[in-house]
Amino acid sequence: MIKKYYFLLVFLIFLISTVSCENSTESEAGENRKISFNENWQFRLGDSVGIDSFGKEWRTLDVPHDWSIEGEFSPEHPAGTGGGALPGGMGWYKKSFTIEESDSTKVTSVMFDGVYHNSEVWINGNYLGKRPNGYMGFQYDLSPYLNYGEVENELLVKVDNSEQPNSRWYSGSGIYRNVWLISTDKLHVTKWGTFVTTPEVSKDSATVNIETTIANKYPEAKNAVIKTIILRNGSEVTSASEEFSIDKDREHKIQQTATVEQPELWSVENPELYTAVTEIELDDEIVDRYETTFGIRSFRFDLEEGFILNGKQVKIKGVCLHHDLGPLGAAINTRAIERQLEIMQKMGVNGIRTAHNPPAPELLELCDRMGFIVQDESFDIWEQGKTEHDYSNHWDEWYERDHTDMLLRDRNHPSIFMWSIGNEIPEQWSERGAEIGRELAAITREIDSTRPLTAAMNPPVHTSDDDVTLQFDEPQQPNALAGSGALDIIGYNYAHQTYPKHQVNFPSTPFIATETTSALATRGYYEFPSDTIKIWPVRWDIPFVGGNPDNTISAFDQVRTPWGSTHEETWKIIKKHDFLSGFYIWTGFDYLGEPTPYTWPSRSSYFGIVDLAGFPKDSYYMYKSEWTDEDLLHILPHWNWEEGQTVDVWAYYNNADEVELFVNGESKGIKRKEGDDLHVMWRFPYEAGTLKAVSRKDGATVLEKVVKTAGEPAVLNLEADRKGIKADGQDLSFITVTITDEDGTLAPRADNLVHFELNGGGKIVGVASGDPTNHESFQGTKHSALNGKLLVIVQSEKDAGSVELTATSEGLESASTTITFE
Ligand code: GAL
Repeated sequence: MIKKYYFLLVFLIFLISTVSCENSTESEAGENRKISFNENWQFRLGDSVGIDSFGKEWRTLDVPHDWSIEGEFSPEHPAGTGGGALPGGMGWYKKSFTIEESDSTKVTSVMFDGVYHNSEVWINGNYLGKRPNGYMGFQYDLSPYLNYGEVENELLVKVDNSEQPNSRWYSGSGIYRNVWLISTDKLHVTKWGTFVTTPEVSKDSATVNIETTIANKYPEAKNAVIKTIILRNGSEVTSASEEFSIDKDREHKIQQTATVEQPELWSVENPELYTAVTEIELDDEIVDRYETTFGIRSFRFDLEEGFILNGKQVKIKGVCLHHDLGPLGAAINTRAIERQLEIMQKMGVNGIRTAHNPPAPELLELCDRMGFIVQDESFDIWEQGKTEHDYSNHWDEWYERDHTDMLLRDRNHPSIFMWSIGNEIPEQWSERGAEIGRELAAITREIDSTRPLTAAMNPPVHTSDDDVTLQFDEPQQPNALAGSGALDIIGYNYAHQTYPKHQVNFPSTPFIATETTSALATRGYYEFPSDTIKIWPVRWDIPFVGGNPDNTISAFDQVRTPWGSTHEETWKIIKKHDFLSGFYIWTGFDYLGEPTPYTWPSRSSYFGIVDLAGFPKDSYYMYKSEWTDEDLLHILPHWNWEEGQTVDVWAYYNNADEVELFVNGESKGIKRKEGDDLHVMWRFPYEAGTLKAVSRKDGATVLEKVVKTAGEPAVLNLEADRKGIKADGQDLSFITVTITDEDGTLAPRADNLVHFELNGGGKIVGVASGDPTNHESFQGTKHSALNGKLLVIVQSEKDAGSVELTATSEGLESASTTITFE
């Protein structure tokens, strides 16, 4: 066995080295039959040119790539502000490569994790196919058309994002996810060809079922052996092995079972992972090796107790995330996704909803590894469109394939606990919605019966917008989709007032709040009085008038949409009832597009608990005080106001009985949260100087927090999240720029333009402030701060070394920091 393993390794190293795709690296999943095909593409923007007319003005780049994020903001772009006010258009990518003669006996395919959208692909002039859906991965077999040996091959990809609007949020354009070259023996595990389930799980043992689909592309039948080895931390735990026969040109499903004794269960706190390694042995050689990461856990959604994971109640404290990465656009970068998840996890978030489409595979791999409860969602649109050129135009031809592929691709991820078949689908109110719902449910259950199915419906029992507050004691007529029997869990968005009545309407179906809140805020901007709730706009179908001339929104938790609710009121309800399994807040991060309630000059959202640059708004600390054990005391606002004006000061705190506030040493009183309060507040006339809050438990100080009145902006400060990053040409250091006065106090209204320079290698790949109205490029080397803060992102190069980043701004003391590539 060991001998065979070595043989395989040698074979794989040979395989990797024979494909001349420059400096290819193995994928993170460790699947060494698959190599990165991201580097050295040629790209050009174009209009509807034919396949023969390319040839000029190509530029060389690596994918993932998003050409929209390179464009200029304008309200004239057909995507509109809802789509981020950035250009779409048509783009062409091509890549030349050679394949060794000896690989002519192999099956070679290309896998795109996602191309937005309407992609069409050719190899050496041969048409391979199209994929309208921009969020699903797809694979083409190149083997029949390849040149082997010295002769070059050319892969050509047309990406057509010219018909807009086609999305309610920023989509990005191009080959914005990873591309892989997959090379296997003719006898191999098929694409997404394993399904690992754990039907019986206890503390003592777990049954692991492995279903493997194998394809035989040889011109004759084969007898072979399949061995599945289960590893934990690289060591074998158990294995299963058997012989099989397979006809030529056939696919064959093989079922295997293994038992894992004393399993390490996957949980949010300890996301323990296992790997199933599938080896196919033909004529005493291991000809294919395929890895599947999985987890062992038991769970259910309970009518009374909500979500139960490994026998323990877990409230799902989730956030919805769109796929863009702020200044990086849609182009995926694993570290950028990881940083987003880290910021969420530090706040206490334990769930992610992939609004409203299948995410990058890397997001799911990170959720597996970091411990998030994921709701994976296939569609925002079925038959009926929401924007003129959206997926409804492709629904009939593609829904079955797209939904099936999401399930096949994602079904082994231990972090996924439910499938959502759609978001606020207009058909939910009609019999047609019930019909489609039942069909998608049947497809889902056929492929994966281990997870429940839900849909993010609109509140299914009210009849008009005015009815949302309705308090009913009799079951109400549900909408057609909710009443169709298709759903295992009733999921709906908003209308938090109706949640306590869920059991009246749906006595036998558990509940998840698929989307909540839609509260609004600009980081670092505050209005008084802080306890007046503003509903912006007044109704979803009435254009917004009012607001602030500079399109700001107060970051006291006091502004919400008419369909939404403030952060505090939503959490109070979810927290109160055990049977409410949890919620997914709209949204964890601000995203490009949908700048509700404003339009141009705003071009990105205000919904995030964290802004587009990754800086928390104040509500972040409310959640953190509730969801983590870490001692917390957070006071807001900043301390630069008009002398004598009436101001409010809020404190979020935990692990303490009281907070006392002092202004310039004089106490403004002790406050305690009463009942279900989530913050305390003081109101008094402003006096410049020092604001100090002290939290105490049993009389002893827990924390002290000081906010001072800042002088004029004077000094730039840089702080990197990681000063040492990997020398792999991918890794990122996120550097926060803070503008302070001479004494180091944050200048809370500083909006200075800051220039960046790198000395010694690497690249500046993004700059952002979190200001939804800023129209400076995210891809430049200068940007204006928002309320004293700014972000700059540095990417490593492949050579080890170090680089000095310098920030300068007229009238401010400059700053430098060193980042090393290790
Ligand atoms: C929801 C919708 C989301 C987003 C949100 C904004 O109704 O599902 O995609 O548009 O509203 O509040």
